[in-house]
Amino acid sequence: MTPERRVKIAPSILAADFARLGEQVREAEEAGADLIHVDVMDGHFVPNLTFGPPVVNALRRRLDLPFEIHLMIDCPAEYAPQFEVRPCDCAIFHVEALDSAERAIAAIRKTGASVGVSLRPGTSLERIAPLLDDVSVVLVMSVEPGFGGQAFRPEALARIRDLSQRIGGRAVDIGVDGGIHAGNVGGVVAAGAEILVVGSAIFGAADRLGAMRALLEAAR
Ligand code: DX5
Ligand code: ZN
Repeated sequence: MTPERRVKIAPSILAADFARLGEQVREAEEAGADLIHVDVMDGHFVPNLTFGPPVVNALRRRLDLPFEIHLMIDCPAEYAPQFEVRPCDCAIFHVEALDSAERAIAAIRKTGASVGVSLRPGTSLERIAPLLDDVSVVLVMSVEPGFGGQAFRPEALARIRDLSQRIGGRAVDIGVDGGIHAGNVGGVVAAGAEILVVGSAIFGAADRLGAMRALLEAAR
């Protein structure tokens, strides 16, 4: 980790106004977002439903930024082929999903997107350690997945540091998702995170542009 390391901001559209999705995502793009984080939920893996391939694909066609598709679903291998991804995109499955990690990785690879893995706050890092040679991103959940607007769980910081050591020299980015805002982003970056997923602190702010700028300033 070096101080010049460039962190990426990935606004999570879960907190956006779904009736004005295209417009709000474009605003985030103009405000300096590096990626767009989309939370796909199936009502089984997490107790909430959001949107699936038709909505993600429609948005994808209208934007140039890379997409990060966070699959909070039990069957990532079954649904991955339905996303119209580009090579710059990343699809992230959960290690706790019903599909095996091997099936999920193979299915995502076949789409042409890069592969990411995520884990719930209570899941041991040991579960993902054997996958570090097969993924480009590990997304550490700093809240229980399923809902935006929850408080950041501080124990995520030690997990990020531990993960960073396990990754060593591999080209694997650490993402952090849940409860991130300008007030805690500094600690998250210092712990070793490279991709910051932010929902309510951007889309819940009256001044979304200002919120993005404050985050970027605090993070970089
Ligand atoms: C939660 C989602 C997150 C969520 C983050 O299950 O994976 O991406 O949108 O939202 P905030 O930043 O509000 O915690
Ligand atoms: Zn997410």
